[in-house]
Amino acid sequence: MLRVSNLKAAYGKIEALHGVSFHVEKGEIVTLIGANGAGKSTTLKALMRLVPPESPSVTAGDITFNGVSILGMDAHRIVSDLKMTLVPEGRHIFGNLTVLENLQLAAWTRKNENIDREIHYIFDMFPRLAERARQRSDTLSGGEQQMLAVGRALMTRCSVLLLDEPSMGLAPLVMYDMFRTLKRLNAEGLTVIVVEQNARLALQVADRGYVLDTGEIIAEGPAEDLLRKPEIKAAYLGG
Ligand SMILES: Nc1ncnc2c1ncn2[C@@H]1O[C@H](COP(=O)(O)OP(=O)(O)O)[C@@H](O)[C@H]1O
Ligand SMILES: [Mg+2]
Repeated sequence: MLRVSNLKAAYGKIEALHGVSFHVEKGEIVTLIGANGAGKSTTLKALMRLVPPESPSVTAGDITFNGVSILGMDAHRIVSDLKMTLVPEGRHIFGNLTVLENLQLAAWTRKNENIDREIHYIFDMFPRLAERARQRSDTLSGGEQQMLAVGRALMTRCSVLLLDEPSMGLAPLVMYDMFRTLKRLNAEGLTVIVVEQNARLALQVADRGYVLDTGEIIAEGPAEDLLRKPEIKAAYLGG
């Protein structure tokens, strides 16, 4: 469905991706793992076609969705037409708005459409958000803020969810909970692309994985194979 071929991307003159290739099929959970600075966020930004300067410019290669290049496509069409939505690193929720207001705001493009169904679905998926619907978002815990960031992405009715380090800053139990929810969303039809420094956790829920090292894919395969590979264990899984 989504295919990245020999992608090179740069910030100004500095190349961050040196020819990255991977693919994601409908219904999969695919993870990109790698150390800090490997190019994980750059890859997601390139996929979402965000506008510079936050986003890198693609200097070579291609990104196709169902066989059609999306390199010339605007970010808003990636969301509205391809149904791909990014949960960015750091969550970027509006702290001075309530949980419910954050969710409603995420559906602003849909004008007068009925959004109760999505809100209901998200509150069912994340009961803690339902309990805190009228609470200001900056009073939520880190885990609850991550839930809200995912919930907000789901308000776009996306079919492909891209997540940038959802486990960042969360306590282990909260992380497991988050990944269990991703698995449940996936079982209900959502395609998931998740980039993580927490390689073990990501590989435990993913179908397939790619290992990114300084802008290059150095290993790939079924997640269970990567979890067993000695060189991956040594470098990324704490031995
Ligand atoms: N806005 C930017 N301007 C210049 N260089 C950047 C920018 N964002 C990231 N980089 C560089 O690109 C490389 C990849 O970064 P990034 O994709 O953020 O890595 P990761 O998400 O894997 O930690 C790093 O060398 C980083 O310093
Ligand atoms: Mg990053």
